[in-house]
Amino acid sequence: MAYIIGVIGGDGIGPEVVAEGLKVLNAAGVEIDIVAYDLGGDRYLRDGTVLSDEILEEWRGLDALYLGAVGTPEVPPGVIERGLLLRMRFELDLYVNRRPFQGHMALSEEIAADQEAFTFEVIRENTEGTYTGEGGFLRRYTPKEVATQGSVNTRYGVERCVRYAFELARSRPKRHLTLVHKTNVLTFAGDLWERTFNEVAEEYPDVATAYNHVDAACIYFVQDPKSYDVIVTDNLFGDILTDLAGAVSGGIGLAASANLNPDRTGPSMFEPVHGSAPDIVGTGKANPTAAILSAAMMVEFLGEASAATRIRAACAVPEIQHGTTTEIGDAIAERV
Ligand code: IPM
Ligand code: MN
Repeated sequence: MAYIIGVIGGDGIGPEVVAEGLKVLNAAGVEIDIVAYDLGGDRYLRDGTVLSDEILEEWRGLDALYLGAVGTPEVPPGVIERGLLLRMRFELDLYVNRRPFQGHMALSEEIAADQEAFTFEVIRENTEGTYTGEGGFLRRYTPKEVATQGSVNTRYGVERCVRYAFELARSRPKRHLTLVHKTNVLTFAGDLWERTFNEVAEEYPDVATAYNHVDAACIYFVQDPKSYDVIVTDNLFGDILTDLAGAVSGGIGLAASANLNPDRTGPSMFEPVHGSAPDIVGTGKANPTAAILSAAMMVEFLGEASAATRIRAACAVPEIQHGTTTEIGDAIAERV
């Protein structure tokens, strides 16, 4: 039976890269029925719709959601990001944002040769932290204005994310998990994260653990990415670190992600790490590989491991990484 996938191409290069992802799924022989949703900045500018309750309810009945990118310069910051993307993550309880990186995917052969061995995954907590929207203004627009933006960290939310990361680390050959935080300054949130991490670690004696402050992790990501296996971190650190990880592993055009509801109480959502890149819309410069690899994560989560493996293998062939958006998509589709 075909999987029912909700597709949100979104803004900018989103629709371009999503089209290539769907092309490759088709070539891989995965049967899907697509339900297309016209959402994002362009839709908002047309009729003010960000995301209706009805659509959100409809999504709960789908097998998965596949998203390109959202955000356009004409819409004030936050409207689409909070109203669509974060609302999806929060309301569908997509509490794990899984982002894998591979050194051998690097576009420059020099970097690829040097970093061939590294492959790590960042598990980013996806429903809490500074992303919850806690905070507000006092005396806004006055010389004495105050803005606060708090970080929300629940034992429940941190523990389920950390547990997922330990399970993932246990399933990988290196069996190593690094907690990244800033416990020396964020002494409340950091304390909760560190204690939770250490307590859960006792249940996983077969997984070796480490701790890095987030600033130091930025150095190691660049200088010694081979030292990592699985990393678990909070929402904002995870956001920033995964752009850096994308840059050191071949470029953000290759970085895939899965927003998972591991309990499967609803659909999970799959999207490239990159944004809508309005500056290159329609130029054919957008690399669809991140979106294609995100589609591979999607079908793997749905149980199509062999299709996922074939798609990943096709994406890793260096020769395919030349040409326009559709040329790269075609080359990958041909190889699956
Ligand atoms: C990401 C993006 C989003 C985030 C934006 C678009 C809200 O940068 O998925 O990494 O900050 O989570
Ligand atoms: Mn980001």
